[in-house]
Amino acid sequence: MTNWQKSDWRSKPRVQMPEYTDAAALNAVEGRLASYPPLVFAGEARKLKSHLAAVSKGEAFLLQGGDCAESFAEFSADGIRDTFKVMLQMAMVLTYGAKLPVVKVGRIAGQMAKPRSAPNETIDGTELPSYRGDIVNGFDFTPEARIPDPERMLQAYLQSAATLNLLRAFSTGGFADVHQVHGWTLGFTDANEVKKYSDMAARISDTLAFMEAAGIRDEAAHALETVEFYTSHEALLLEYEEALCRLDSTSGKWLAGSGHMIWIGDRTRQPDGAHVEFCKGVQNPIGLKCGPSMTTGHLKSLISSLNPENEPGRLTLIARFGAGSVGEHLPRLIRAVEEEGANVVWTCDAMHGNTIKSTSGYKTRPFDSVLREVREFFAVHNAEGSIPGGVHFEMTGKDVTECTGGVRAVTDEDLSSRYHTACDPRLNASQSLELAFLVAEELSNRRDTLVQAKAG
Ligand code: PEP
Ligand code: CO
Repeated sequence: MTNWQKSDWRSKPRVQMPEYTDAAALNAVEGRLASYPPLVFAGEARKLKSHLAAVSKGEAFLLQGGDCAESFAEFSADGIRDTFKVMLQMAMVLTYGAKLPVVKVGRIAGQMAKPRSAPNETIDGTELPSYRGDIVNGFDFTPEARIPDPERMLQAYLQSAATLNLLRAFSTGGFADVHQVHGWTLGFTDANEVKKYSDMAARISDTLAFMEAAGIRDEAAHALETVEFYTSHEALLLEYEEALCRLDSTSGKWLAGSGHMIWIGDRTRQPDGAHVEFCKGVQNPIGLKCGPSMTTGHLKSLISSLNPENEPGRLTLIARFGAGSVGEHLPRLIRAVEEEGANVVWTCDAMHGNTIKSTSGYKTRPFDSVLREVREFFAVHNAEGSIPGGVHFEMTGKDVTECTGGVRAVTDEDLSSRYHTACDPRLNASQSLELAFLVAEELSNRRDTLVQAKAG
């Protein structure tokens, strides 16, 4: 992308972005952010891209998950640790079941800007601008809190830097050592899940002991003692993204320095819009949400503008149609990708098409719908001969009650007890782990079928 400039998006139509009223304050913040270090480095983004290239070929599986929206108020070491831990557990279950390496990508360290279905929110007859994530405005329902404040970008940057620092320490400092597989059991997980998980952990420990005895341990040690954990977020607030965009001296290409992978939301994917324009020019892996309104024409044009060189691992298509609708939309989009001969990762966001209002008034997602969408995703790929590359969840390591169902059934009435999300409802630790076992089952069935097909 030779003539691309990081500010080119400014001349394109933009949606879902705040109108800052104080231009001087905005410019000052942008200037400061532009002088700060990037949060991630180009080599890391390229490494993630190479792992995603393996996913696109069916040689690895992508697990992407985390908060719908990270918040300033909920920011804590324990929260980061618990989400990291449940993702490690899920990855372990998937690796074990699928016999494939799992690429771990958090919705974390920058996931703070939210698109909204309506610009305003009305409560008891009072209308105020909608909350757009802590990087933009405040969650409190007051006129002051809802004014977009550019200073929030600085706090978001600092929180992301501190989060990433802790994640890097957890990844390489011993916490993620496979030998700890037993210790990752969370106290409040359902007894049945604990048993399933402990049984698997025992088998893994056994294998490790065997490897050690056989002298294999030394060479494999590093791979088993550390993990690679990547960050991602929706690149929605383009002033922030531009300010952290850097030219990488090694490759001579631009990098979004705000996170390893960035994605374009289902509401901001207009082929000639600002968000696509920004993402076109950076070398990071890019995600593209594909909801029911994605046409095959738009998809083809987005593929050619976002990945003109057809680089494997560059583009991840995140399907989010809702349970019951996957069969209607996914096959036509898979065929469009095939027609283009495009290299993509197909992953399944089983959250955003399944949001409903519960009888108790809370926004929720039934566990069964989430699971059903995942199963439909696998079934369509199995039928089309394409590759189901990964899953994408809104989840937390905390014992929240935001999605209904699961083995430790959260009911509509339970929702009010621990409903903490700043935006969409998340799976709790127990629901996340349960889902991982079910996805692992799908993957292992698929593996058996492929092996049989090869043999027969
Ligand atoms: C999200 O991932 O939080 C989100 C808003 O998703 P979508 O763009 O798919 O609606
Ligand atoms: Co969400």
